[in-house]
Amino acid sequence: MIYRKATTNDIYQIAYLITKTIGTCNIKSSKNIFESNIEEVTKDIKNYYVCSSNKKIIGLCGISKILNKDSFNLGLKNVKEILYFCVEPKYQFNGIGTNLLKLCINNIKNDIIFEAWGDNGKYVNSKFILEKNGFRMVKNLGDSYYRKNNYCHKCINKNKGCNKCIAEIWVKYKTI
Ligand SMILES: CC(C)(COP(=O)(O)OP(=O)(O)OC[C@H]1O[C@@H](n2cnc3c(N)ncnc32)[C@H](O)[C@@H]1OP(=O)(O)O)[C@@H](O)C(=O)NCCC(=O)NCCS
Repeated sequence: MIYRKATTNDIYQIAYLITKTIGTCNIKSSKNIFESNIEEVTKDIKNYYVCSSNKKIIGLCGISKILNKDSFNLGLKNVKEILYFCVEPKYQFNGIGTNLLKLCINNIKNDIIFEAWGDNGKYVNSKFILEKNGFRMVKNLGDSYYRKNNYCHKCINKNKGCNKCIAEIWVKYKTI
């Protein structure tokens, strides 16, 4: 397995894996989910890390550039935000996600926001990784946040008929 920075040649494979494991967060786009993800990933391709096996991308994580907006009213300035984060299902629970997240957050001097979701009714999908890597949950957006904000039709679980989905904001505060 190889861990490396993403290049523009990876955009389609990255967008494909996101489409398969998440759906899209690019809900304002009128394009379909795969095309929305191509659009979204292209903007930040230089800020993604990937894990590949036999030239196939099996995991990815991205981190934004410095953002000046205070999207979740956290009172933080100059934050970075974790972008898409996913691992091919058959490779999950092998530490790949943790390695990719670490590549994104190591040596970052800013506060880092992670918007985490989960449909298992108990905790967000990335809870254990976030806890182990110094993030803490700072805001619970509520179980109907995604439904109210019209995300569900672009989610991987759109046909599951979920009636709630956990939405939480986790932050890793900068260390001076
Ligand atoms: C979230 C995701 C990227 C994690 O990738 P991964 O490669 O499986 O993650 P890792 O193997 O590095 O880490 C999983 C960790 O959580 C721990 N974990 C998972 N479920 C657990 C549980 N129920 N109880 C205790 N620990 C648990 C694992 O033991 C592991 O910790 P360890 O490294 O100390 O053993 C992957 O599950 C995924 O792609 N999910 C779908 C997309 C998604 O939900 N993205 C994140 C949105 S919040």
